[in-house]
Amino acid sequence: MPTSYDQIAYPCSPQAQTHPGLLATLATLHGLTPTPIDRCQVLEIGCNDGSNLIPMAADEPGSHFTGIDLAQTAIATAQDWSRRLGLQNTTFTQADILDWNPGDLRFDYILVHGVYSWVPPHVREAILKLCRNRLTPNGVAYISYNALPGCYFRSYVWDVLRLKTKGLIDPLEKIAAAREIAAKMCDWMGNEYLQPAIRKEFELLNKVHESVLLHDDLSECHTPFYLSDFVEAAQIHGLQYLCDAHFSRDSVHNPDLAGEEWLTARLYSDFVSVRKFRSSILCHAEAAVDHTIQSGRVWGLSVSSPAEPQPEQDDGTQTFKLGDEKSLSTNHPVAKRIISELSGIWPGSRKASDLPLESLGPDDGAALLLRLYEARAIELRVQPPRLVSTVSERPVASLLARLQLASGQLAVTNQRHLIVMLTDELSRQFLQLLDGSRDRAAVLRDLIAHFEGKAPLAAWHDNGPASPLELALMLDQGMDGNLAQMARLCLLVA
Ligand SMILES: C[S@@+](CC[C@H](N)C(=O)[O-])C[C@H]1O[C@@H](n2cnc3c(N)ncnc32)[C@H](O)[C@@H]1O
Repeated sequence: MPTSYDQIAYPCSPQAQTHPGLLATLATLHGLTPTPIDRCQVLEIGCNDGSNLIPMAADEPGSHFTGIDLAQTAIATAQDWSRRLGLQNTTFTQADILDWNPGDLRFDYILVHGVYSWVPPHVREAILKLCRNRLTPNGVAYISYNALPGCYFRSYVWDVLRLKTKGLIDPLEKIAAAREIAAKMCDWMGNEYLQPAIRKEFELLNKVHESVLLHDDLSECHTPFYLSDFVEAAQIHGLQYLCDAHFSRDSVHNPDLAGEEWLTARLYSDFVSVRKFRSSILCHAEAAVDHTIQSGRVWGLSVSSPAEPQPEQDDGTQTFKLGDEKSLSTNHPVAKRIISELSGIWPGSRKASDLPLESLGPDDGAALLLRLYEARAIELRVQPPRLVSTVSERPVASLLARLQLASGQLAVTNQRHLIVMLTDELSRQFLQLLDGSRDRAAVLRDLIAHFEGKAPLAAWHDNGPASPLELALMLDQGMDGNLAQMARLCLLVA
């Protein structure tokens, strides 16, 4: 039977925080020995159109990726992409979590993103049961969910939407009614007491994709949980909470916290940050998790940094831009040196043990790396992403990115499992030519052939369309810069 996800497709995208490479890193930091990601079994429950699993499968031909979802149309799209990429290591199946039977299969990584809060209690139980029964002994499961206390504010909004859309069945009518009432509530609400915070929630509603509005906010189910509720539900099913996908400092700064106290510390931090969403990682109850994060576990990891160093100030403080309008300022000499050095080789990485941290000693050196990791100034990985940071003679962009562009998408998935928007026609054509068969001269020749006399160039040139010679010069001069940019965007592979 068609589901609401068949009627109106969900705008899926790769979720970097679900990547087995990240889950393996966090498990390693917590004292576990996860299965290497180049020879593992991965299951995604509620995989939808495969936007999350397909890029992983394309990068790791030695591993197998299984996706299940109730929506047949989404599964058909996943199967189609798998075929177009020639992947031999995926299985996409239309199935209900409640009665799916994978035979004897066990999985090293189970991913459940955007599902747990949006299904009724018996399906949530089935998800946890599946994780318990189907995870390998050293396996890890990722489950994201709406969190309390932040979702108290969203509950207010959901109640208003329920009131407004009561009796409506047609999804498009529901969306229109929801948008209308959200806009009105923004106008009606003043600045008293909690009104500004709640107005913000209504403003957000008017910004989200209509399909997200329908499936997330207008869904009959969007149950939020305190971390403690989630941990307890997991414990009942023989699973234990390892950490969240976004590494947080509690465990670094409070190495002595254990059991209740350790959980209580996190709950307080959720109250302080008014947290609305969590991406939690579970493992078997029997696994020997060590939340103290011993320094020895850091040294074998690879480290990279996307930070952009700004000029040092007179007092020695240096600011590093981290993207999303975030930044880190520090006057710690070793931190400055490490971030600058790593950002110079981005997107390349170095082994933690090869970084110039000797002056700090092993424990303080590892603690510094963990603090920088928590601040998102560096990335830690058991295995660096499969990308190249230097441009070769015949550069290659990932087949997935090239096919995404060829199918008319403006967004491509990069080798760090993130979306990159390529909004200009030149970048899109340029990337599609990087298939490993062309050197720079051939890329230039085919790029000129593509654009010659075409309309977009008129817009790039103040005095009307560029002549063939002007065009050749412009593209030639931009060649090295464009190739370097593609490498920095993590779109080039070996
Ligand atoms: C909000 S979407 C999330 C999709 C994707 N994981 C993401 O985050 O972009 C929820 C997905 O769970 C699937 N789903 C819901 N209930 C299910 C069930 N009982 N069995 C299998 N899939 C289910 C839906 O079809 C839908 O694709």
